[in-house]
Amino acid sequence: MNIIVAKDYAGFSEKAAQVVASQLTLKKNSVLGLATGSTPLGVYAKLIQWYKQGKLDFSSVSSVNLDEYVGLPRESDQSYYYYMNENFFKHINIDVSRTNLPNGLAADVEAECKAYDTKIKALGGIDLQLLGIGHTGHIGFNEPCEEFPKGTHRVTLDHKTIEANSRFFASEKDVPKQALTMGIQSIMSAKAVLLMANGEGKAEIMYKALCGPVTPKVPASVLQLHERLYVVGDEAALSVIKEKHPELIG
Ligand code: F6R
Repeated sequence: MNIIVAKDYAGFSEKAAQVVASQLTLKKNSVLGLATGSTPLGVYAKLIQWYKQGKLDFSSVSSVNLDEYVGLPRESDQSYYYYMNENFFKHINIDVSRTNLPNGLAADVEAECKAYDTKIKALGGIDLQLLGIGHTGHIGFNEPCEEFPKGTHRVTLDHKTIEANSRFFASEKDVPKQALTMGIQSIMSAKAVLLMANGEGKAEIMYKALCGPVTPKVPASVLQLHERLYVVGDEAALSVIKEKHPELIG
């Protein structure tokens, strides 16, 4: 596990973007696993900036997103499809036909989840998976549970997640209750993983995830078992780890 600490959100975004840029330098046609939410917004902004400066080329990149809400049409400004296009894809030279998100409106959810896993395999697997972390310890939308889920599946969101994500919606009751998410096996099969966290609100869960027991009750804890895990956080998000395990922070 490599833990990279930045002073603030700007520094955090730059350092996380550097991990992505290095991946693209190593392999032009990388398959990127992408995340949504507040955490990576600055990372996408940085990558867009470097693309506009001619430093990055996404023309041969493919992408698979972690998750999508069930029941929101793609045009909804809260769908993750909309988020990815608005915050990243439309600003870079990625071929949109090579970008993938689960279809939260699929009539046959099981078939959709299977097809998503088949797609990831057909792409040759994920080279670098970007992850945020939820207050519940979720990665993707894999909420605390009894057994690590394997492939893409439908999940009922934890009330804490609904509460946290209500900041993007008119009210809490407008937040979809379910989502389709890549499973833990899909995430762990990525060749490298970049876990990102910023802000004090993530400090305790980052400590539990990276220093506590590996348990499906804290889904992100499974990342301790990944051979190529890069953690990028700001000082606030890494503060509890620093206090209790200073040796882990460079
Ligand atoms: C997003 C995702 C979630 C978020 C997590 C943190 O695609 O899969 O796991 O990464 O909920 O969200 P933010 O970044 O909004 O705190």
